[in-house]
Amino acid sequence: MSNQVTLSINNQPVTVPAGSTIIEAAQKAGVSVPHFCWHPGLSIAGVCRFCMVKVEGMPKLQIACNTPATEGMKVDTLSDEVKETHKWALEFHLINHPLDCPICDQAGECELQNYYMKVGKYQAQMEDQKVLKPKALDVGDTLVLDTERCILCSRCVRFEDEVTKTSTLGIFNRGDQATIGTYPERKIKHNYSYNLADICPVGAFTAKDFRFKCRVWFLKETKTVCPGCSTGCSVNLFQNSSQREYYRLKPRHNAEVNGHWMCDTGRTMYEHLNASSRLASPQLEGQSISSAAAMQAVTDAAKGLAADKVALVLTAQFTNEEYVASLSALKSVLKSAPKVFIWRDESEKSDDFDGILFRGDRNPNTRGMMDVLKEHGITATVLKGDYAPLAAAAPELTLILAPEVESAYPNLAKAVGRFSELKKTVYFGNALTDSAKKLWLRIPVKTFAEKSGTFVNFNGVAQKLKANPAVFANVKGVDEYFGDLSRLAQSAV
Ligand code: SF4
Ligand code: SF4
Ligand code: FES
Repeated sequence: MSNQVTLSINNQPVTVPAGSTIIEAAQKAGVSVPHFCWHPGLSIAGVCRFCMVKVEGMPKLQIACNTPATEGMKVDTLSDEVKETHKWALEFHLINHPLDCPICDQAGECELQNYYMKVGKYQAQMEDQKVLKPKALDVGDTLVLDTERCILCSRCVRFEDEVTKTSTLGIFNRGDQATIGTYPERKIKHNYSYNLADICPVGAFTAKDFRFKCRVWFLKETKTVCPGCSTGCSVNLFQNSSQREYYRLKPRHNAEVNGHWMCDTGRTMYEHLNASSRLASPQLEGQSISSAAAMQAVTDAAKGLAADKVALVLTAQFTNEEYVASLSALKSVLKSAPKVFIWRDESEKSDDFDGILFRGDRNPNTRGMMDVLKEHGITATVLKGDYAPLAAAAPELTLILAPEVESAYPNLAKAVGRFSELKKTVYFGNALTDSAKKLWLRIPVKTFAEKSGTFVNFNGVAQKLKANPAVFANVKGVDEYFGDLSRLAQSAV
């Protein structure tokens, strides 16, 4: 028996794996079938009855999400009968839906709104009062629930049952009194809660972190990689480019890495990108200087030093390209490799894994960094709570590629205090803590959102970052700074 079936959708042939449903075959054929309850990352519920299609030989319309595609099947999604059915199914969903759009955070990315414009546009027949239900319920630390907006698709219930296995949500009562809600005395408390706001096709679940901050049509999304841990989830990052302000991340489907989801810790990875959380210009002994002056100071400090008097301290939060650039530049300036150390936070439990996505290694590019060190034939010393090996090396100049995601290094201030006891320390990073003020030179760097380059996740999957417009025009990437170092050292010869 073949493990593929070929069917036609609107007279267009499409071949899919046996066992696929009509809606999956339609997606493959590029045909959009309206749907609410179906979600490719969840089990099939078949409750919204919106995805009706005509199958030749079957007397009634069928739901595309739960009807298997079979060999030779002829499916139609464009006939008047199908279109009328979609229209009235939509009116049925809107019977009790409030007219909240102007004040609803989902407006602009609401599937109900979009489908009304695409397949609805009917004259409403409803004359009775809408059923009122509880609004703006506090259902946990991250979400607000408006039960009146819910269309009872049950996606959120299935997510809680199947993905996080926390089973906090249920649909209570029947008929027009049916209401989504949490079980008594229960709140949504897990590290994947924002996915509920993503999968809710309407504005019933909204994210506290994003509510009323920015209308979605002002945001531009960029495909990138979450820097929150070594899983490296594929994400979309949303920026209001006219304000150069970041507002949120959402998961981007990647079957090889994160499927359809991301964790709540990863959702915070926009906070450190905005100007208020960043160092705007280099600080030499507490004085603001230009980037050019900063790199001239580094070049002067490196001049004439033996390679073993220079230490390079790496964290695994930079791109492969930045590691290659920094090592290559130092090798060429010092005529040999410097002493290399790897800084890990002392609290890190790198083997931890929550069973879904989140990993204890809070660095997005450990694997890429180790690969680059290996390619350069360098054996690095790990600093984890004990900084004695670095002090024992007695470096005259220490260059630190510091963690961009400082929240992943809870003992950062302590480590920075130790680094500041060394002779000239150049800290590529923000470090806005008080202990950082004692560092000889701090140089701000581009964040993951502002540079291109490669992260390699724990499993060896390489993914590219995509650069957005920089928040500070004068701030460069580590590869650019080390390119400057090479050039300045050359021109001084
Ligand atoms: S709250 Fe949203 S996801 Fe949950 S059942 Fe209602 S519409 Fe569906
Ligand atoms: S699991 Fe890791 S990479 Fe994925 S979203 Fe969470 S912090 Fe980011
Ligand atoms: S999407 Fe098919 S019944 Fe809901």
